[in-house]
Amino acid sequence: HVIRREDYRAPDWWVPEIALDFDLDPAATRVRAALSVTRNGDHARPLVLDGDGLTPLSVKVDGVEAQGWSLNGGNLVVPLGGGAHVVETEVEIAPERNTQLEGLYASGGILCTQCEAEGFRRITFFPDRPDVLSRYKVRMTADKARFPVLLANGDPIAQGEGEGGRHWAEWHDPFPKPCYLFALVAGDLVANTGSFRTMSGRDVQLGIWVRQPDLAKTDHALAALKLSMAWDEKVYGREYDLDVFNIVAVDDFNFGAMENKGLNVFNSRYILADPDTATDYDYDAIATVVAHEYFHNWSGNRITCRDWFQLSLKEGFTVFRDQSFSADQGSAAVKRIEDVRGLRASQFPEDAGPLAHPVRPDEYIEISNFYTATIYNKGAEVIRMMHTILGPTKFREATDLYFERFDGTAATCEDFVACMEEAGGVDLEQFRRWYTQAGTPRVSADLAMDNGKARLTLRQSVPATPGQSVKEPMVLPLKLKLFGAETGRAMGDEQLVLLKEDTSELVFENLTEQPVLSINRGFSAPVVVETNRTAADLAFLSAHDDDPFARYEAMQQLMLDTLVASVASGGTDHGAVIEAVRNTLTDPALDRAFIAEAVVLPSDSFIGDQMAVVDPDAIFRAREALRRDLGTALGDQWRAAYEGSIANRFEYSPAAKGARRIRSVALGYIAASGAQDAPQLAFDQFTGADNMTDRQGALSTLANGQSPLREQALSAFYDRYRSNGLVLDKWFQTQALSSRDDTGEVVRALAAHPAFTLANPNRARSLIGAFSVNQRAFHHASGEGYRFVADQLIALDKLNPQTAAKLLPPLGRWKRFDARRGAAMRAELERIVATPGLSKDSFEQASKSLD
Ligand code: ARG
Ligand code: ZN
Repeated sequence: HVIRREDYRAPDWWVPEIALDFDLDPAATRVRAALSVTRNGDHARPLVLDGDGLTPLSVKVDGVEAQGWSLNGGNLVVPLGGGAHVVETEVEIAPERNTQLEGLYASGGILCTQCEAEGFRRITFFPDRPDVLSRYKVRMTADKARFPVLLANGDPIAQGEGEGGRHWAEWHDPFPKPCYLFALVAGDLVANTGSFRTMSGRDVQLGIWVRQPDLAKTDHALAALKLSMAWDEKVYGREYDLDVFNIVAVDDFNFGAMENKGLNVFNSRYILADPDTATDYDYDAIATVVAHEYFHNWSGNRITCRDWFQLSLKEGFTVFRDQSFSADQGSAAVKRIEDVRGLRASQFPEDAGPLAHPVRPDEYIEISNFYTATIYNKGAEVIRMMHTILGPTKFREATDLYFERFDGTAATCEDFVACMEEAGGVDLEQFRRWYTQAGTPRVSADLAMDNGKARLTLRQSVPATPGQSVKEPMVLPLKLKLFGAETGRAMGDEQLVLLKEDTSELVFENLTEQPVLSINRGFSAPVVVETNRTAADLAFLSAHDDDPFARYEAMQQLMLDTLVASVASGGTDHGAVIEAVRNTLTDPALDRAFIAEAVVLPSDSFIGDQMAVVDPDAIFRAREALRRDLGTALGDQWRAAYEGSIANRFEYSPAAKGARRIRSVALGYIAASGAQDAPQLAFDQFTGADNMTDRQGALSTLANGQSPLREQALSAFYDRYRSNGLVLDKWFQTQALSSRDDTGEVVRALAAHPAFTLANPNRARSLIGAFSVNQRAFHHASGEGYRFVADQLIALDKLNPQTAAKLLPPLGRWKRFDARRGAAMRAELERIVATPGLSKDSFEQASKSLD
């Protein structure tokens, strides 16, 4: 059943108020709901309440047993005469049997909810669509010993003791909200509490709720929350609006976290951190996700989405906001590099594959499948481009207008763009194509000299994507600048060029020396740029460009050109890359976090993305050969970088993070050089580390190698952390990402390990998800990798369709590989599609991938 954007109709009935009464029990929870409903307009249609797997125990209208109601495919249909009624229903659900982790479920003894996008209909009958906004009153009753803490959205109103060891609590949320933002939590929890004084002087009580043993790992999340609250006031003028803000961490969660009003529920991996168990990457991700969910209070909750086709309205904007927040906490340049690397690793392949869709899709079968890198990360790039086009001041005026005009409503992407146009005084008519056309635009930029003049020819094209064979030109904001090849001096200021036509030409006059082109600086447009720059030009820019992103990019392009040439010819000269890396590595003016990013080679998959037919083995060989040469030629420099970055004790600061990062990159190159002492060096780092970043960095290096110390380190790591689920995930993931020849066999054996389970999404992702992005291992010529992943996904689909479907796309990229691999991948997709009882989540992903 396909849902189409053009079919949107306003709801037949509004639900301004709802009272919910939960009699909580893991095996059998009673849910009573009283909805005050009002007719929208003049029509005779019945009230249709969405339901999924619910059986009504009673249905009342205005206090009396209802007549004539029926069930239609799970939905409750209630004929109603007048314009306003109170409709009451009662159902029973079993949270402990809910393996889908959608609706009300149990995680490690905690009862919690996840409703976005369509989980509320698994809790009670309701119009489960984001444009129906209601005021919620929630009452919960539960066993006091097992569930001493009872939380819901809004403010706590009352609590008391009940009979037989039970107790109850009531919460009211004064802000009307769609049901996907509903949440409740019941459990044996403790809180790390704090408070925040808002800009208008109100005190907000903050709580990060976890199980007792995890309490010591919550300080970083609490600090990040306070920083986020202050940042949103300062940068967007947005103040928090309730008296309490609670976050609960649970171990079983389908994605990162959820922005339920006043009660965020998080995957525990995005809350819990201490130096012994969390890497710097984890610390950063926690701050980012805490900020993201907090920022949703305005971009998502106060202003929500009219329908799910508008998902990027809240997600793209909120990702842009969390990216800007994180950039402000440390090195903005390194943050931009990380974000672009993420976009290229996850969104570009999506845009180039069978599941490509616009930032505002036109249709879907299962909305859960559209929580994608396109909606989130390309969506964020679209907002960033408007920020670039308007400039920061006008952009802020436009967001002020948006927040003011649409507060309390369910809005559309169009509403947002219209505010940008109105406050920004710009015409974004053509720019709107970013919302409607899928596919990553390609730009070619050719710079040619002819007597003292430089002529820059820009051409754009947007590739065809499923359902969109013809594309119109986009608006591409390209920041560019020229540098003198001899003096290294900038030739004029940076310019912002808006490329709107298929082709356009720029002329630069009065040039006194040969220019080198720096383009798409800061990654101002999410496009692929091809230039006629030589290896010498790229090496020059990698040393002299004054935009750090462009400097990184020049180095990456140089590496990529070298690797692609090497794959094509079975080997090539590595001299230019070695010299460029040497310059960056030894440049005293650069910070270490930046150096570390700049000297890492493009990933196997990114190299593959540049090729017409991906040859995973040839790519691996070419990349390893370049790593070995870099490791050998710069042996002294890697040693110096390694030794120069040893710290006395752990500290979480941008400088200390940069030191750890360069250290682990240097260790990787020392190992790649084949140095005799490399395994021992890694092992000593492994045993001596006082933090997880160094420990896991060393473990990864060992896990890629052949030394007997590998087994020792893996088993020491396992023994030390056997009772810590989040760290065990790293143990599985490190092995699944290994570059060893036997990774496929190792991973298949790990799937039978007693600590492996598909029931926990983090664990499933740590093995299956990690393995299927390990290009060489997953695409092993035997086809065993495909068979293994398909087996696991078929099993996972029965438990948790959302998580299974999310792990499916790597199997769908069959067109990118040779005929034999392609056929093997298709065979697995066909096997998945033919599985009896397959969820619509997996069906949509697999069947679209076959087309
Ligand atoms: N709104 C949440 C967030 O981005 C994620 C919800 C994901 N839901 C889903 N069905 N995949 O913060
Ligand atoms: Zn979000």
